[in-house]
Amino acid sequence: MLPRRPWRAAWQAALYGTEGFFVRNNPADHFRTNVAVPLFTQAVRRLADLVDEALGFPDPFDVVDVGAGRGELLLALHDVPARWRLTGVDVAEADVPFRWVHEIPEVTGLLIANEWLDSVPIDVLQDGRLVHVAPDGSESRGQRVEDPWAARWWPQGGRVEVGLPRDQAWMRAVSRVSRGVAVAIDYGHTLPDRRSTLTGYRDGRQVPAVPDGSCDLTAHVALDACAAATDARLLTQREALSALGISAALPSATDPSYARGLQQASQARELLDPEGLGRFGWLVQAVGVDAAWMPT
Ligand SMILES: C[S@@+](CC[C@H](N)C(=O)[O-])C[C@H]1O[C@@H](n2cnc3c(N)ncnc32)[C@H](O)[C@@H]1O
Repeated sequence: MLPRRPWRAAWQAALYGTEGFFVRNNPADHFRTNVAVPLFTQAVRRLADLVDEALGFPDPFDVVDVGAGRGELLLALHDVPARWRLTGVDVAEADVPFRWVHEIPEVTGLLIANEWLDSVPIDVLQDGRLVHVAPDGSESRGQRVEDPWAARWWPQGGRVEVGLPRDQAWMRAVSRVSRGVAVAIDYGHTLPDRRSTLTGYRDGRQVPAVPDGSCDLTAHVALDACAAATDARLLTQREALSALGISAALPSATDPSYARGLQQASQARELLDPEGLGRFGWLVQAVGVDAAWMPT
């Protein structure tokens, strides 16, 4: 019989062990995220400018990307002031022209984490019992557990994805910000639409969640629980990007940069789509600075 262990341990080894999926694979080869859309990186640049200004233009001003893949987001920030210190944080290595580390450094500036929390491993309970999983994805039920997180944030029971490690990861990220703003962007749910979503991705396709290192493993983030952990604001991506000036309005036909305007409108539609990326949640935590530009 194949060895079975709780989901969190199996998931950790499958993604981040020595032969783990994210150690061997570039995430961008397997799924498309916000980061692939140039207008999104422009919005992040605008956000960083706002935080820089709110902090009084410190030297250095940090822009730290947590769960940075191979550094795509920071590579897309062009012509940044010499004061800005760009840092990518990931378990994997990357060959980039800026600082690359494996632990979140201290931040004075903007910390951003796009689709990081959904890949933080968590346990699964089925009707109050810890689910164990084998490397081929087959499951069995282990011991009964009384889980305070599940009682508070997943009261309907059934198949529960125990989000506490995501709350803790978010708290840890926020705690690294001395002054500035932390933002985590992810797909998620809140109490009214809580549902289990654990699945796999490989080569752009959804595949069964099999913890053998052959695919990404991901589950939606209980965003309300993360927000409550640090008293962060929780916005939809649509709200957050609109506040940063992203609009899907079509350019006027007389606009001299009509073609560019059309291209931007099409990217904005993708980012704001209420059935797609626009449904993502933004956790926004200001630390020692006023983030008045973000809607409440
Ligand atoms: C779903 S990918 C997102 C990549 C990129 N941010 C994007 O939006 O395209 C998640 C990334 O988070 C990284 N990651 C997960 N947990 C991490 C941790 N504890 N420390 C550093 N990186 C982590 C993974 O290695 C992976 O590159």
